[in-house]
Amino acid sequence: MTAQEKSLLYDFLNKADCLFSGKVSSDFQHIDFKDDAELGTASSSSASSQVAAAQVSAQAQLQPQNQEIAAAQPQAAAPAAFAQTSASSASSAEAEIKKIALSVAQCNACVLGKTRTNTVPGIGKIPPIVLVIGEGPGADEDRTGEPFVGKAGQLLDKMLAAIQLSRQDNCFIANIVKCRPPANRTPLPEEAQACSHFLQAQIDILKPKMILAVGNTALHNLLNTTAGIKKLHGKFFNYQGIPLLATFHPSALLRDESLKRPAWEDLKLFRSKLLEIVPDYQSSYLNGGI
Ligand code: URA
Repeated sequence: MTAQEKSLLYDFLNKADCLFSGKVSSDFQHIDFKDDAELGTASSSSASSQVAAAQVSAQAQLQPQNQEIAAAQPQAAAPAAFAQTSASSASSAEAEIKKIALSVAQCNACVLGKTRTNTVPGIGKIPPIVLVIGEGPGADEDRTGEPFVGKAGQLLDKMLAAIQLSRQDNCFIANIVKCRPPANRTPLPEEAQACSHFLQAQIDILKPKMILAVGNTALHNLLNTTAGIKKLHGKFFNYQGIPLLATFHPSALLRDESLKRPAWEDLKLFRSKLLEIVPDYQSSYLNGGI
């Protein structure tokens, strides 16, 4: 079977599943199918098992994701996993991420498309070790098209640097919504929903080892909870198989200095977990070449 045939079959199965279950197609992850010839087999049973495996993994993705995993066993260590990423898979991920940015730029699925100056799809190292997820662009981001470039962004960069992370070296930074909500209001649920397939596609392509969610909007939308960041910060959750920790948004730290101490404790926990998963991650931190 060719990759295209498998992709069509997978698409068909997903559409049928959506029809029967009322799910939206964006719930299904993107799969890079390979030609049988490339896989070194011409057997149709292997082709169908690849589709079946993709279905199983798409279904697994729909399981409740907000289970705390603080008590769970650490994930298998992946030393040098980052360094081993081949140049070709990195460049194909870059191309896929660019494609998403192009579709974001053309999107008018919600009212935010009417008032934005620039879309802000996300930026950073591809593939990253860590994906940082914020709320949505503010005025500076809307002007420049880059996430977290204002005062909150400068503080975010310092927070990341404190645990040897940076957007230049080992992080990708994205938001729940890719267009600025007017007057920096919190994105509405329907705006977050309309944008969620872009973030999902980014996660599927980037395959980060860990996710750092900053602030209530990221926490609520990613974990489908209404509990506040004050309650849930500093705990690990399993997000589609990826350890996720939520901490305070840098804007909150700018407003309330007393949150800096608990935020630092959260970052230390994040670093410890990351060291378990990618023991050599700090070697990727070159401080943006500074
Ligand atoms: N706040 C966010 O949550 N994201 C940005 O990109 C900028 C500010």
